[in-house]
Amino acid sequence: MKSLFLACVTAALGGTVQGSVGSRCASLTQIYDSDSPTQVHTAKAVPAGGLDISSEGGNQTIQNRIPICHVQGTIKYSEGQTGHAELDASGEATLTWELFLPEHAEYNGRYLGVGNGGYAGIIDNYTMLKHLNTGYAVGGCDSGHHQNENGNNTGYAPYMEDLAKVNAWIHDSIALTTRVARDSITTKYYVQPPTYSYYYGCSTGGGQGYSLAEFYPGLFDGIYAEGPGNYYTHLVLSFLWNMQHTNADGFLNRGTLNFMAEKVLDACDGIDAVKDDGVIENPLKCSFDIQTLECKPGQNPVNNNRTVCLTTSQVQAARSIYRGAKDARDGKIVYPGFNLGTESTWLGQQTVLFESYGAPILRQLVFNDTNYDAVQNFNWGSDLDAVDTFASPLIDGITADLSAFHRRGGKFITAQGWADPINAATWPMRHLEDIQSTMGPETVSEFMRLFMVPGGGHCGANPAYPQVPAEYHVLDALVEWVESGKAPDEGVLSSSPPDGSSTTRRLCPWPKQAGFLGGDHNGWESYKCVETSAIVS
Ligand SMILES: *[C@@H]1O[C@H](CO)[C@@H](O)[C@H](O)[C@H]1NC(C)=O
Ligand SMILES: *[C@@H]1O[C@H](CO)[C@@H](O)[C@H](O)[C@H]1NC(C)=O
Ligand SMILES: *[C@@H]1O[C@H](CO)[C@@H](O)[C@H](O)[C@H]1NC(C)=O
Ligand SMILES: *[C@@H]1O[C@H](CO)[C@@H](O)[C@H](O)[C@H]1NC(C)=O
Ligand SMILES: *[C@@H]1O[C@H](CO)[C@@H](O)[C@H](O)[C@H]1NC(C)=O
Repeated sequence: MKSLFLACVTAALGGTVQGSVGSRCASLTQIYDSDSPTQVHTAKAVPAGGLDISSEGGNQTIQNRIPICHVQGTIKYSEGQTGHAELDASGEATLTWELFLPEHAEYNGRYLGVGNGGYAGIIDNYTMLKHLNTGYAVGGCDSGHHQNENGNNTGYAPYMEDLAKVNAWIHDSIALTTRVARDSITTKYYVQPPTYSYYYGCSTGGGQGYSLAEFYPGLFDGIYAEGPGNYYTHLVLSFLWNMQHTNADGFLNRGTLNFMAEKVLDACDGIDAVKDDGVIENPLKCSFDIQTLECKPGQNPVNNNRTVCLTTSQVQAARSIYRGAKDARDGKIVYPGFNLGTESTWLGQQTVLFESYGAPILRQLVFNDTNYDAVQNFNWGSDLDAVDTFASPLIDGITADLSAFHRRGGKFITAQGWADPINAATWPMRHLEDIQSTMGPETVSEFMRLFMVPGGGHCGANPAYPQVPAEYHVLDALVEWVESGKAPDEGVLSSSPPDGSSTTRRLCPWPKQAGFLGGDHNGWESYKCVETSAIVS
């Protein structure tokens, strides 16, 4: 791939027009006229090690290992006729994008679009740089608004006042960015378009991935959506549900959650292929009943500062979280509940998540009332219809018909942590079932796979499971599937657990699971993907 690509570039450049790398890069500022909606503000050559970027939270830093052309710019846009954000030189809204182009000799001929998290407003240039270092041309954006429009978790998000920005956030910003960063700039810089294009995003970024397949099926050859928030409206309703059902007496404090987590693990870790590794391989196989932890009459839930049992209200609260949000009219699931093994990270569900991510959606997109108090007033019947009518068309990506993406030969992989504290792990599974019943399981198997990650958290590790490899080598598997036609049915490597050990594991395409073959428990070669039913306990 690399040498073929270089031969083409050398031929195209004819050895005469190349100029210095620095001036070729700098000339990218000239691509757009001054009255264009797209502007390139910076284009400069950066030597290896010249960029030093921290991850969100700042604990990890990364540098560019290879010399790059670093390009930054903006796109003006507005809400178009079709209800999607569109380029518009007189648009009020501004998207900020960034592009890293590897020096020719290091370029692998592929473009990677990188998505966002949460309410976005920042560019995930840490993830971008990570993939730049393996030779991708990488583009990312802030999703169409700036972080200072997010409202700092106060229940009001200024950017949601502008429908163009709401549309851009999950549905359209990656497409707007790709048309500029890839189709114009990357193509001009290397004198030909990338050979293949991929997208990666987690959480909101996973939702952006599903939206790309739904609304822009031609844009990417391969899409990797992790921990997907593609049913964003109902995801935030699950936060509301969990908060409502744990208020007052039902609240599950840190001590109670840790006690539950310990008892659940005791009951479930022994039934899977790898006993006593502190991880539940498939929580659906464990039938632990939380009621067994209920206090006996007269028993105090806390003894010597240790939780020893749950009150009746706490048992009911926990059951509501496991069951998930329901439509009061017909009992249908609004969003799935949490499975066994997630308990220790339930604090956010009971406290901050709804106010941070859900309240602005209900107040600003659904009820047009900035004082609307959902915790008191949300009706789990007719109000669900209001959410589906007003907010869902703007931010969800839940079609069960991805046939346009399938027809163009696209491949789609989802990875989902079994111990995700934000997104109920069985949501992507249910959605896959919807897609299968609409398109037919055979057709779906031609282009989609779901990888469940035992003990995996939200976009990486769950702090309760530091022994679980947190680096999923899904993008490599996706590239192989797209370019060589080899579906990742023998599983995907995961590596680099936060505890620093060298443990690796084999992630398997659902509903298969890793079956242990013998040998080293901590090496992925010791596992084979097998039908769930083939695992004997
Ligand atoms: C980052 O480091 C701080 C302090 O060392 C720690 O409390 C926090 O959990 C770390 N965050 C992550 C995401 O590792
Ligand atoms: C990284 O992201 C921030 C915020 O989104 C941006 O301002 C900055 O220019 C980006 N790039 C680099 C190389 O730091
Ligand atoms: C909200 O966030 C913005 C941008 O991050 C910051 O400038 C501002 O001070 C914050 N306001 C509050 C009240 O925290
Ligand atoms: C009780 O336990 C908590 C959590 O383990 C600890 O932080 C706290 O200091 C303990 N309090 C006492 C009085 O021992
Ligand atoms: C909220 O405002 C929008 C736009 O003006 C309108 O279409 C919608 O009907 C309003 N929602 C409700 C629940 O009244």
